[in-house]
Amino acid sequence: MKTPPVIAIDGPSASGKGTLARRLARHFGFAYLDTGLLYRAVGLAVLRQGGDPGDADQAAAAAVALTPANAGALDDPALRGDQAAQAASRVAAVPAVRAALKAFQQSFAAAPPAGAGGAVLDGRDIGTVICPGADAKLFVTASLAVRTQRRLDELRGRGVAVEPAAVLADMTERDARDSQRSVAPLVAAADAVVLDTSMLDAEQAFAAALDQLSRRFGLAAGPA
Ligand code: DC
Repeated sequence: MKTPPVIAIDGPSASGKGTLARRLARHFGFAYLDTGLLYRAVGLAVLRQGGDPGDADQAAAAAVALTPANAGALDDPALRGDQAAQAASRVAAVPAVRAALKAFQQSFAAAPPAGAGGAVLDGRDIGTVICPGADAKLFVTASLAVRTQRRLDELRGRGVAVEPAAVLADMTERDARDSQRSVAPLVAAADAVVLDTSMLDAEQAFAAALDQLSRRFGLAAGPA
């Protein structure tokens, strides 16, 4: 039986990949999974237990406890915060955490919920490790300066007072940890199309992505 189509979207934080992935999912009528939320949920669970997200055993136990049945917890607004982001980046370097979350992500791609005709997953290793056979792969990136500014705008929009230097330092630290870890580091798959959104707004990024999906991967939405 033919498996449903999968669009894999990877890239660093604040590259615009989440906004793009959500829009593509809506456009194609596919289900969307923000896989960063899974790592954030694991990191936050460890913090809430008073543990250390860098401790492999504690992180792995929290990852095993996260199942599609209790994934409603992914709605928790605290997952969007910086504490959760930093904890996520640390648990994400633990091989047993990645292994535990792999099945969750692969089942979502193989059998998208609510009868959706396909799936869009965004993260760091979707095209390389989770769905290497994805029908289309985009690697969405932007310069560090642009990503820092976007994160600043986002935080200020939420009423969070932050110093630009602190956001830059946080982003640099997370980039380094995500790119240099030994398991599933952030890297573009050999067959991914790289989309640099430094000079693009969300609308332009969406248009560029649709163009690439159609031209490079033969993926176009049918009539609505
Ligand atoms: O995309 P995000 O900022 O929500 O991701 C939070 C952290 O989780 C990020 O620092 C790296 C990690 N992550 C990962 O290692 N693999 C994924 N597929 C998604 C996120």
